[in-house]
Amino acid sequence: MTLGAGYAALMSVEMGVYLLKKLSDHVTLFGNGDCNFYLLEGEKAAVIECGTSAGAAILAQQWQALEQKPAVEYIIMLHSHFDHACGLPILQNLFPRAQVLGSLAAQKILAKERIVKSLYAADEYVTEFYLKNGLLKERPEVKPPAELVIDQLLVDGDTIDLGAGVQIQIIAAPGHSVCSLAAYLDVDQAIFISDAAGYRDDSGEISPVFFYDYDSYMATIERLQTYPAQIIGVAHGQVLVGDDTAGFYPQALASARNAFDEIKGRLQAGQSEDEISEKMFNQYIQGTLAHYPREMMLASMQLLIKNVKAKM
Ligand SMILES: [Fe+2]
Repeated sequence: MTLGAGYAALMSVEMGVYLLKKLSDHVTLFGNGDCNFYLLEGEKAAVIECGTSAGAAILAQQWQALEQKPAVEYIIMLHSHFDHACGLPILQNLFPRAQVLGSLAAQKILAKERIVKSLYAADEYVTEFYLKNGLLKERPEVKPPAELVIDQLLVDGDTIDLGAGVQIQIIAAPGHSVCSLAAYLDVDQAIFISDAAGYRDDSGEISPVFFYDYDSYMATIERLQTYPAQIIGVAHGQVLVGDDTAGFYPQALASARNAFDEIKGRLQAGQSEDEISEKMFNQYIQGTLAHYPREMMLASMQLLIKNVKAKM
């Protein structure tokens, strides 16, 4: 472990206090809970998740406070949604030696200037929310890039060797998005699943997020739960540790099934898609998700409806 004495201390930033937390021998959690980042360390280090600009700015504050900073050689992007991609320039600034790793689908999406522009519009909305609500003191100095570049492609079954017996195994995790990946660290029984199994809010409810495809979303969760896990590293909200991991996947599956059945029932009863998306929005867009642009989240609810219709 190369982190300095301050790594487990409370890090005070002027507008808030964010805790770095050592989760296991090789995993440390950064971020403010809305946007989680994971530092994995062997002889080399990797950061998993890229977050928003606001989230990455918080990570940067935490990083500056470290007495000894491990050399991060890999930045692993688990999917290309704005709140998992737009923090990349800040991370690259912090970790100039790092290669950016992600899926081919994410690489293609993030090479499109029009898409990246829309991602940064949502990212800017979140930054404004953070500034207005005192979660961030200063606007991050980021000029939105025309594209976000993934240097090395990851596919299912790939292994990233950090040395000292620390290996990250890549798992394709489609369903939430076409480009979703998960990462497994068997040495600590830690799995990093991004948004692949839903968004769990502070009350413990899980919002289903099958925005790409329902069947592959369910198959992904079924597969993820075959990996023994003492740590389930979600992208947003509380990390599941120890006994808390046990019920997570069954709950994620049940939540998605319930949403599917409810949407199907409402469609069959003749409700309009606008009416259903409004209902789903009110039910599921809580916590971190409520900081995101309303239009974007309503459009996401429309994706749930579209994906239910595709299976009816
Ligand atoms: Fe996502």
